[in-house]
Amino acid sequence: MNSDHIQALFDRIAPVYDELNHGLSFGMHRIWKQMTVKWSGAKPGDTCLDLCCGSGDLAQMLSEKAGRTGQVYGVDFSAAQLEVARDRSERRCIKPPIHWIQSDVLNLPLSDNQFDCITMGYGLRNVVDILSSLKEIHRVLKPGSKAAILDMHRPDSAFVRTFQQWYLDEVVVPAAQRMGFTEEYAYIAPSLDKFPTGREQVRLAEQAGFTTATHYPIAGGTMGVLVITK
Ligand SMILES: C[S@@+](CC[C@H](N)C(=O)[O-])C[C@H]1O[C@@H](n2cnc3c(N)ncnc32)[C@H](O)[C@@H]1O
Repeated sequence: MNSDHIQALFDRIAPVYDELNHGLSFGMHRIWKQMTVKWSGAKPGDTCLDLCCGSGDLAQMLSEKAGRTGQVYGVDFSAAQLEVARDRSERRCIKPPIHWIQSDVLNLPLSDNQFDCITMGYGLRNVVDILSSLKEIHRVLKPGSKAAILDMHRPDSAFVRTFQQWYLDEVVVPAAQRMGFTEEYAYIAPSLDKFPTGREQVRLAEQAGFTTATHYPIAGGTMGVLVITK
């Protein structure tokens, strides 16, 4: 899939994305996102960035950490996802307000060394060039600061891998089918097969210029968080 196809896919699923995500993960995605925010090192007063923000869960969590003295930016190239994000954040009273930016994360309209912390949830697997994406994260992050990147993975264990594939085939795709989005969710399995393993992601992060890179498998290895420091 090229970038235009990916953008169109996320525009189409925007109305059902939150409901499906929440139901299919039994609400666990919020815990994995909280862990990601913690690993990003976000604290009061920080200028924070959430890439591939979708409907804005991670950006909201960052704004709770950054508080009134901080600033939060959420970036996504899907106008429909940003619309949901804006709508959700306007209904909350948590400050600071979030700056929503429509852009490709491979070419951010943001300055070098601007951010104290960066998060990305389920975005790296979808970008067309992972190394370029990591280089762009490196460019906008302040020296000494961290980014935490959460995504789905193929687990090392053959047993868990079989369970993951069964869950995708028998639960995720049929649930999406009931909402009229079969193809949109059938892409997850092939995207997992192509996605670099934790070890490969560490190597790519080092190639992008990060001084430290650690990959933490979570949820039995079906998810992982790459934590990188500039
Ligand atoms: C699976 S959703 C994740 C949304 C949100 N981060 C979450 O965890 O719920 C992936 C998001 O990445 C966005 N995306 C994918 N590639 C992108 C790119 N190159 N530039 C900007 N956004 C991108 C999609 O539009 C979509 O909203």
